[in-house]
Amino acid sequence: MTTKTQKKVPVTVARGDGIGPEIMDATMRILEAAGARIEPEYVTLGEEAFKQGIMNGVTDEAWESIRRTGILFKSPLTTPQGGGYKSVNVTMRKTFGMFANVRPVRTFEPYVYSKHKGVDMVIVRENEEDLYAGIEYRQTLNTCHSVKFMSRTGSEMIIRYAFEYARVNGRKKITCLVKDNIMKISDGLFHKTFDLVGKEYPEIEQEALIVDIGMARVADTPENFDVVVTLNLYGDIVSDIASQISGSVGVAGSMNIGRGCAMFEAVHGSAPDIAGQGIANPSGLLNGAILMLEHLGQGDVASNIGNAWLAAIEGGCHTGDIAEDKKKALSTSEFADKVIAHLGKKPKGLQAFKVTDDQPLKMPAPEKTTKTQRDKKIIGVDVFIDWDGTDPQELGGRVEKTQTGHLGLLAISSRGLKMYPGKAETKAVTDHWRCRFKSKSGKEISQRDIRDLLASFDLLNLKWTKLESLCTFDGEAGYSMMQGE
Ligand code: NAI
Repeated sequence: MTTKTQKKVPVTVARGDGIGPEIMDATMRILEAAGARIEPEYVTLGEEAFKQGIMNGVTDEAWESIRRTGILFKSPLTTPQGGGYKSVNVTMRKTFGMFANVRPVRTFEPYVYSKHKGVDMVIVRENEEDLYAGIEYRQTLNTCHSVKFMSRTGSEMIIRYAFEYARVNGRKKITCLVKDNIMKISDGLFHKTFDLVGKEYPEIEQEALIVDIGMARVADTPENFDVVVTLNLYGDIVSDIASQISGSVGVAGSMNIGRGCAMFEAVHGSAPDIAGQGIANPSGLLNGAILMLEHLGQGDVASNIGNAWLAAIEGGCHTGDIAEDKKKALSTSEFADKVIAHLGKKPKGLQAFKVTDDQPLKMPAPEKTTKTQRDKKIIGVDVFIDWDGTDPQELGGRVEKTQTGHLGLLAISSRGLKMYPGKAETKAVTDHWRCRFKSKSGKEISQRDIRDLLASFDLLNLKWTKLESLCTFDGEAGYSMMQGE
């Protein structure tokens, strides 16, 4: 049992960009009226900080406050598309090791229209790795790369968290979404880790789905899902699908749990298309606040607010995004007034929020990790080169002239497809080529072998742009085959 904290807890609050200030002000009014025992410290994050010339979008005061309070409650922040500043959200999640992003989604029929009934699912999204590592390069005039960074420890932490979350919250089933039929190594690692960790939780039903059919089923029959655990990018997409089909993307809240800090927010973004109009739904942020209050051990206030919100929704108090009769839609601030007016009431039709005395959401990062493979050997190297010719035979002839020592040229590929040796069925359309060299004896090669090979590329005026070692782990290949290899 948790002893209810009566002392006010300092919380760092950022009003955010776009609709952020409108929904934050409405939410803070509700928290104050409900007697949330928090001491807000307002800081600047995002666009305002960028305008002050702060490249990472986080002011010194904000860093100091977040480090001290360990709790950040934030409105959405705008991130420019296709260029410009990096996402402050991602910076926060990574800097403070917030490895788990938890997004509960449910439906509110018949009060909020949804094609689906009885949806009550929780998406547990990996938050620090995958393509969100933000490691990108343009290496040639024609091509660019994004690194999909995955680690065994990162995968295990999120998967253990998801199983623990399911166990503590009495959830019955976990679905893992991966694309390991194509990304056999990176997504394969996630899937294998899911199977491994899953053995420790035989009481929880487990399934792994390929992400494309998995998302299609979330969109079609969301009521069949309970807890979903997945990689960062898939988790981002599936949580927007789930919250949109529940009625509006403006309703779902989200918490980011980690080692040094916890962050609470709405699932949606800064909605620049409706910013400044006072019509945004503050419910997503309010649901983020409810998760925060539970996390802080203030389940009493959390359930009071949650129940007032449900009662208001049941009573037909709707913002424009969920109102069936748009003429009767409430403004952001009118909706907040209605929630305040319903404080102390409980919903009659919808399932009420429960006080969570044992703080089931506040779980530490799992410390345990399972090391399964021990022996690593380097048995070859892929050398990527920038070459604007089109004939693989011509390139093959040049690369064959490199002095390879213990290494032998195995094949050359373009965009993952083998083009040399042998006759390629299709034409190369880029200036980016991969030359795969392997140990002639099958034994481990040395760093010196690789240095000698690169020197030979330089002498032949072949412009190499990047290297990847080909490794085995307990004899198992740690690299993908070329298509057609
Ligand atoms: P968005 O979620 O801001 O908007 C998508 C659509 O949903 C828009 O039509 C918008 O009007 C509507 N919408 C969103 N929230 C609403 C609410 N509370 N009430 C009523 N309607 C709402 O997504 P979009 O347009 O892709 O992104 C806009 C910006 O937000 C981008 O800069 C993006 O990077 C950022 N973003 C920030 C997030 C965060 O701070 N955690 C999360 C997602 C996006």
